[in-house]
Amino acid sequence: MSTSEKAATLNVEQAGTNPSIASDGYFSVENLNAYYGDSYIVQDVSFDVNEGEIVALLGRNGAGKTSTLRAIARADEPELRKGEIYLQGQSVHGMKSYQASNAGIALVPEDRCIIQGLTVEENLDLAVIAGEKGWDYERIYDLFPRLKERRKQEGTTLSGGEQQMLAIGRALAKDLKLLLLDEPYEGLAPVVRHDIEKALMQVREAGITTIIVEQNAVAALKISDRAIILDTGEVAFQGTAKEVLDDEALRHEYLAI
Ligand SMILES: Nc1ncnc2c1ncn2[C@@H]1O[C@H](COP(=O)(O)OP(=O)(O)OP(=O)(O)O)[C@@H](O)[C@H]1O
Ligand SMILES: [Mg+2]
Repeated sequence: MSTSEKAATLNVEQAGTNPSIASDGYFSVENLNAYYGDSYIVQDVSFDVNEGEIVALLGRNGAGKTSTLRAIARADEPELRKGEIYLQGQSVHGMKSYQASNAGIALVPEDRCIIQGLTVEENLDLAVIAGEKGWDYERIYDLFPRLKERRKQEGTTLSGGEQQMLAIGRALAKDLKLLLLDEPYEGLAPVVRHDIEKALMQVREAGITTIIVEQNAVAALKISDRAIILDTGEVAFQGTAKEVLDDEALRHEYLAI
C-alpha cells in the first residue's frame, strides 16, 4: 500500500473510531478555497481543532500552510472564495481581519510584526487597547521572564527569540481563543526554542488552543496533540502527532524528514 493510500485509510479509520480526533466543535474549517488572484492555493481544506489542543499544520515549502493560517485569520490575501470557518459555533468566514481578531483569533506571523518605536510594554498596551483583556502583564511576564527584564526596551531591538515571546505575549494580552503561530522557531537557537516550547505547553495547560506551522516538524510534533499535513494546498493526512512521528514513509513523502 502506498503512503498516500495508507494515509487515506488512516483518515477513514480514525474519523470513525479514534476518540483522539473526535471533534468537540470548538474550531473547524470546512472546504476552504482561497486564491491569490487566479492562483488557486488552498484547495478544499477541512479540519477540526478541539479546545485546548496544540495542532501542528505541516507540509513542504509552498504547501499552503501560511495561506491557510491567513485565510483563518481573515487576512485580505489570500481571498477566501468558498468555505466556512467556525469558532465555538460562531461563523468567522464572513469577518474582516479585525473582527476575527476581536473574536479571539490571533495570528503571530513569521516576521512577528513587533511595532517599531514602542517598548515591550507599549507593544502589550496596544494589544489591550485593541480588544478585550486576556492575561494581565504579570502573568505574561511569569511565562516569559525575559520580557519583564526588557519591558522598557524598544521591541524591535529584542533578539529573535525575545521578539517571538513578545508576539505570543501580545496575543495572550487579548481575550485569546485560537493562537495561530507561523514558524515560531525560525532562526532560533535550540536553547531559545526550548524556552518557547515550554511556554507553549504552559499556554496549553491554561486551556488555550493553538495551531502551529513549523518547518521544524519534529519539534512541532513533540509538543502537539495532533497533526494535519498539507500537500499542494490539500489535506494529505490527519492524525495524532505520534502517528506522524512513528511513520517514516509518511514523514518522508510529505515532510522530507
Ligand atoms: N502573495 C502571494 N501571491 C501569489 N502567490 C502566493 C502568495 N503567497 C503565497 N503564494 C503561493 O501560494 C503557495 C502557498 O504558499 P504558502 O506561503 O501558503 O506556503 P507555505 O506552506 O507556508 O510555505 P513555506 O513553508 O515556504 O512557508 C505557494 O505556491 C506560493 O508561491
Ligand atoms: Mg509559510
